[in-house]
Amino acid sequence: IWIVDNIVDKQSIYPQVKEAAQLLKSGEVVAFPTETVYGLGANAKDAKAVEKIFAAKGRPSDNPLIVHIAHLKQLEEMVSAIPDVAHTLIKRFWPGPLTLVLPKKEGVISDPVTAGLPTVAVRMPAHPVALALIEASGLPLAAPSANISGRPSPTTAAHVFADLNGRIAGIVDGGETGIGVESTVLDCTTKVPTILRPGGVTKEALEKVIGNVFVDSALTDERQTPKSPGMKYTHYAPKSPMAIVQGSPAFLQTLVNKQRTLGKKVGVLTTEENRSFYDADVVLACGSRHDLHTVASHLYDTLRKFDETDVDFIYSESFPTEGIGEAIMNRLKKAAGHQVIDEK
Ligand code: TXA
Ligand code: MG
Repeated sequence: IWIVDNIVDKQSIYPQVKEAAQLLKSGEVVAFPTETVYGLGANAKDAKAVEKIFAAKGRPSDNPLIVHIAHLKQLEEMVSAIPDVAHTLIKRFWPGPLTLVLPKKEGVISDPVTAGLPTVAVRMPAHPVALALIEASGLPLAAPSANISGRPSPTTAAHVFADLNGRIAGIVDGGETGIGVESTVLDCTTKVPTILRPGGVTKEALEKVIGNVFVDSALTDERQTPKSPGMKYTHYAPKSPMAIVQGSPAFLQTLVNKQRTLGKKVGVLTTEENRSFYDADVVLACGSRHDLHTVASHLYDTLRKFDETDVDFIYSESFPTEGIGEAIMNRLKKAAGHQVIDEK
């Protein structure tokens, strides 16, 4: 495995990107930064290369991958139709954290990428390193998040290294990713486009551009089967059990106290505003409530930090489900296995 130096300016990208592109062309898998999280890329047209992604991550083969592109020409090659609404969204949000599910053209993208579905999920990442790598390889890159399945998604090269060292050919280090939660997955094959996974582009932002947008009902009702195969797995799970607390910090503290009288070590996931309020074994702040984007960008790193502690239980504060808060709460609820404790 190799990690190239932290890439900060676009001028210095090329030698490292060339080397990574060469590996991709020869059928290897390489991790690279995007504006959301690090991806684990392989040639989307090469089934053998794509199967290496599933093997490295321990990912179930029924969970399809997102194809990353740098040019619209690449999209036209792999889909059988682009509805008007998709054109409008592409104009406004690409490159960016929006993945579009479209009808796939047969015989272009290799079968394991789409896991037997008649559709393909595509996005154009807004990260200079990702775009340079796609361009240098000349390939559409199938890329899930570059973590072991079930671990929080990686937002630094060090996270990728911790999970995948020895399992992949290399990591291109582009520093911290920025947005911190994955792209929004939007199904454009339904009459009204449907959000299958909340992410970097909010429902509010989508509706401003295309009007009414549905949300897959399985996202709010955990008894239903999600339309996006990946959403049915417990993702992002920290090692110790976690519960989300809907209520005041004082209420959360009473829950901590109860566990501690039982001899348990307790962690609290909070924000800068509230961190000094809590008395617990480990208190980690994840961004500021005044700007939920800062919470999104540090969420996975904070969950990983809890794994390095010896807490028996984690209580997390909750966040308003508006804007990026929707994606934050979606990921937190999955990390907590949908354990929510309400003050009322
Ligand atoms: O931000 C992101 O999207 C990151 C970066 C690396 O681009 N990638 C990412 O990939 O999160 P992954 O594999 O961890 O998540 C892909 C999601 C899964 O929930 C999967 O089930 C869904 O997209 N998906 C992929 N193809 C699909 C399809 N044809 N129909 C419905 N859902 C699909
Ligand atoms: Mg993932």
